[in-house]
Amino acid sequence: MTERKGPYELRLRVNGEERAALTRPAETLLRLLRERLGLTGPKCGCENGDCGACTVLIDGVPTKSCMVLAVECEGRELTTIEGLRDHPVQRAFSAENGFQCGFCTPGMIMNAVALVRAHPEPNEEADRNWMGSNLCRCTGYEGIRRALAAARAELAARAGLMPRAKERP
Ligand code: FES
Ligand code: FES
Repeated sequence: MTERKGPYELRLRVNGEERAALTRPAETLLRLLRERLGLTGPKCGCENGDCGACTVLIDGVPTKSCMVLAVECEGRELTTIEGLRDHPVQRAFSAENGFQCGFCTPGMIMNAVALVRAHPEPNEEADRNWMGSNLCRCTGYEGIRRALAAARAELAARAGLMPRAKERP
């Protein structure tokens, strides 16, 4: 790993755009995104790796951004909730009441996007384990489970694999 001392300009790719920002060696990715790049979708819940509210994708892998140093992301591809733009998972969370307060929702959705990519078929055990890294104190998780099912159905329909749920006989 390259040794860094003092502030320096970090370059990375965020939501499809090349971005640069001044950072310090001890700054977390969460702080960099929110305070230097103006991306406030990732939320600052616990800053301790427990709640998942800060989850973003780094090279497609869901990651708690409060647990990663910004310097570790040099040259990496990042996606935050701002980069999704009407993704089927977002629509499904809305349609199925997968959230109420919205504080946990950005991280929940980012983790769910990675989940349905990794497991395009329904998989209750994977859902429980995967989404267990994101805490929500409002919904009781039922809406989230329905949202995962709806998102998978939408993605499968888009891929031409099966008709949408409401089109099935
Ligand atoms: S703010 Fe990162 S896990 Fe809670
Ligand atoms: S909707 Fe997630 S904590 Fe309230």
